[in-house]
Amino acid sequence: MTVRVLLVCLGNICRSPTAHGVFQQRLIEQGLQQQVEVDSAGTAAWHVGRSPDPRSIAAAAKQGYDLSELRARQVQRQDFDHYDYVLAMDSSNLADLQALCPDNYGGELSLFLRYSTGLGNRQGADDSLQVPDPYYGDGDGFLRVITLVEQASDGLLSHIISKHALKA
Ligand code: 4NP
Repeated sequence: MTVRVLLVCLGNICRSPTAHGVFQQRLIEQGLQQQVEVDSAGTAAWHVGRSPDPRSIAAAAKQGYDLSELRARQVQRQDFDHYDYVLAMDSSNLADLQALCPDNYGGELSLFLRYSTGLGNRQGADDSLQVPDPYYGDGDGFLRVITLVEQASDGLLSHIISKHALKA
């Protein structure tokens, strides 16, 4: 059995490729690459075919993650046929995905940070569940993205391992 995860932001050049690279690294570390599949996509088509933003690649590389081989693509309605988890970086991305999602989708469409180990008691669609878009900001935003997606990757992987009874 393969559990399939799609991580989604707006452009698929900053947040979701960072989440993709971090989650993929966790799968490799735990020997789960055959059992869990991950991809990322954007709700917008602006950057289709491009590498991640050089600032995302550089920030990730500093923390030991290689994003350089990833290429942007746009999310499609058919993705809901394939993926068990479709997880958005912010509430705007989630609203776009909800509009695209077939009514009978049997998987989990949610915010990525709902799985975060760093969430504590905070709940609801408040700021703590958003991965802030770093595209127009300063360099710190890119490092912040990494911290947030590391916490969510750890939480999501624990959830998947226990829910689907996976063994490394
Ligand atoms: P992302 O960031 O959604 O994290 O990939 C953005 C990338 C590009 C743009 C906006 C956000 N843009 O406006 O081109």
